[in-house]
Amino acid sequence: MNRDIIYNLLNSQIAKEQYAAQLYLSMSAWFYERDLDGIANYFRIQSKEELMHAEKFFDFLNDLGGKIVLQSVEQPPHDFTDAQAIFEKALEHEKLVTQSIFAIVKAANEIGDYSTASFLQWFVNEQVEEEATASQLITKIKLVKDNPSALYLFDQELAQRVLTPGE
Ligand code: FEO
Repeated sequence: MNRDIIYNLLNSQIAKEQYAAQLYLSMSAWFYERDLDGIANYFRIQSKEELMHAEKFFDFLNDLGGKIVLQSVEQPPHDFTDAQAIFEKALEHEKLVTQSIFAIVKAANEIGDYSTASFLQWFVNEQVEEEATASQLITKIKLVKDNPSALYLFDQELAQRVLTPGE
């Protein structure tokens, strides 16, 4: 089996996860600037998770025997309109990542690369969670954004998030 197409897709996916880490760190900075440190914490943890995703792809590609070729990662946006726009962009981005992972699953199945398809199953499941969480947060920010005390509580809630290894 010639896995060249899979190696290319996995290398691209490393960069996509690294870009997601940059995007979420930029979102985190936006909230820190506005003293919403709890929401900033949420995105900072999200950024770290994305780096862990990049490393999972890195390690798997290495285990497969593929050549790791790191790619440049573009600059993320920093001039967001408001908090709701940030949460909406986060969901939109997760949907792109889901499509990208599905494309690798499809390519792996087409060439009978069941090892890669099996490895990707964790990400397929993870994306369901990521999109569900992003969607819930949009609902919440819409409810609280014009109410300072509710926003304060929301910020406190997101301050509780900690990095969970393996996610
Ligand atoms: Fe690595 Fe949020 O997907």
